[in-house]
Amino acid sequence: MALERTLSIIKPDAVAKNVIGEIYARFEKAGLKVVAAKMKHLSRKEAEGFYAVHKERPFFNALVEFMISGPVMIQALEGENAILKNRDLMGATNPKDAAPGTIRADFADSIDANAVHGSDAAETAAVEIAYFFATTEVHAR
Ligand code: PPS
Repeated sequence: MALERTLSIIKPDAVAKNVIGEIYARFEKAGLKVVAAKMKHLSRKEAEGFYAVHKERPFFNALVEFMISGPVMIQALEGENAILKNRDLMGATNPKDAAPGTIRADFADSIDANAVHGSDAAETAAVEIAYFFATTEVHAR
């Protein structure tokens, strides 16, 4: 098994629901360590840059508007198979399809407001962590 890092974002809907702690508890119970964290209200430019790969998709503007609608909690998680483990904890993109007990099944209201983001591959994880954190802000544990 590989020790990996992944980028996680608790989105404005979940921050507004006051479930940051409940989501962190799920990371910890799954063996994922928080190695960097910050709460931030993203600017439009930051959100557009983060989701630039989805620029041509029909939901791009809605996604950006939603991501700047309130503060988000951003963290880098470290653990064995952290990328897939976090995606499993998150559940399917559309909460209607998310398995019971996953973060999106429990806390997300719709595909537009789906509670969490998680990197989908090692390459994107490295880029996404570097997008929000300087190397000195990521702490080996
Ligand atoms: S994923 O999770 O990346 O595999 O899913 P994908 O379908 O490629 O979606 C990319 C991101 O866009 C969000 N998304 C949407 N937002 C608003 N409306 C609609 N219809 C929609 N469909 C997908 C999805 O949550 C992904 O954002 P992140 O932040 O990565 O979860």
